[in-house]
Amino acid sequence: MIRVGVAGASGVGAAHVAALRRLDGVEVVAVSGSTDESARRVARKLGVPAAYGSERALIDAGTVDVLHVCTPNDRHAPAVRAAFAAGLHVVCEKPLATTAADAAELAALAASAPTASAVCYHYRYSPLAVRLAGLVRSGLLGTVHSVRASYLQNWQLGAAGSWRNDPARSGSSRVLADIGSHALDLVEVLTGRPVTSLAADFHTPRRDALRPGTDDVAVARARLDGGAVVALTASQVSPGHLNTIAVEIDGDQGTASWQLGDLETLELVRTADARRLRLDGHADPHRVSRFWRTPVDAEARVVALLDAFYRPLTGGDGGPPAAPLPTFADAARHVALIDEAARPLLIP
Ligand SMILES: NC(=O)c1ccc[n+]([C@@H]2O[C@H](COP(=O)([O-])OP(=O)(O)OC[C@H]3O[C@@H](n4cnc5c(N)ncnc54)[C@H](O)[C@@H]3O)[C@@H](O)[C@H]2O)c1
Repeated sequence: MIRVGVAGASGVGAAHVAALRRLDGVEVVAVSGSTDESARRVARKLGVPAAYGSERALIDAGTVDVLHVCTPNDRHAPAVRAAFAAGLHVVCEKPLATTAADAAELAALAASAPTASAVCYHYRYSPLAVRLAGLVRSGLLGTVHSVRASYLQNWQLGAAGSWRNDPARSGSSRVLADIGSHALDLVEVLTGRPVTSLAADFHTPRRDALRPGTDDVAVARARLDGGAVVALTASQVSPGHLNTIAVEIDGDQGTASWQLGDLETLELVRTADARRLRLDGHADPHRVSRFWRTPVDAEARVVALLDAFYRPLTGGDGGPPAAPLPTFADAARHVALIDEAARPLLIP
């Protein structure tokens, strides 16, 4: 049995615990929080046997093989360093770190560590995104020349401040770190090409004392290896959008539009025969949760990612994963791109 500890289990960490419980050969044995009391409360609620007041204490107890890092962004780097130093496998939430330098250091540690690591970019496991990546790879769209991507949410419209509104805890751009990173990952996975440059303009329409610092909207342009251009919008103040991600890919032989919102949909248009094909994903209204904000079975995406991560550790059977595991190198590239794009925000 692989023993797992989850650092930061009251937020998205609770969703990790739920997803881990859908895997064979894996057991969540401990959680940590920012205090002993908060950790104990969460452990009781989730039915996890052990609770620690810090990730350091959890690691030092020596009772886990894997650490899931689900704490605020600025806590990722110290937790990941300590976990690798203790010989643990690591699953880290995105963004990997708050600075490009920290992210590059963590990616180097991951590359030289004897243990496994992955970053929780789960959207690449959405069933129709997996389908689309395969279709692009097969050449259905011809040569990809442009991409339009957007990730829209509305929750900052009514939000009071949190650690996400503090640039020191969130990163150089909150909106790009929080959701733009997912969009960058999807663009790369769907096209099979890494992003090589990113420039952006930012806006904070709701500037008030409750939410000091950090940007709400970013409008960016990027380039992919090979020359294709990308227009990317990330917003957390878009009324009507609980959580909508869309990527549209133009090739010289067709266009594909993928969207994940109330439903997951994929539409393909091929120029050769002017045929249009639309696929609708499965929606499950019973699986709406505070984190995933969509009736599509979001937990299944995290389960698919964690299944790909844990199968080599548990010796489980099964074919190749639906999508490649998101690596620390992928996530470090995204943090570096975001830092570069956010330079204007750092000028007072
Ligand atoms: N992959 C995704 O789609 C996704 C979704 C939501 C959040 N996230 C990421 O997960 C991380 C946590 O986000 P969240 O929404 O769960 O945040 P949250 O504020 O809801 O929860 C943070 C957790 O960390 C703990 N914590 C807070 N400060 C701490 C400290 N100083 N030391 C140790 N633990 C501390 C809290 O007790 C809590 O359990 C972030 O990096 C975020 O970007 C990813």
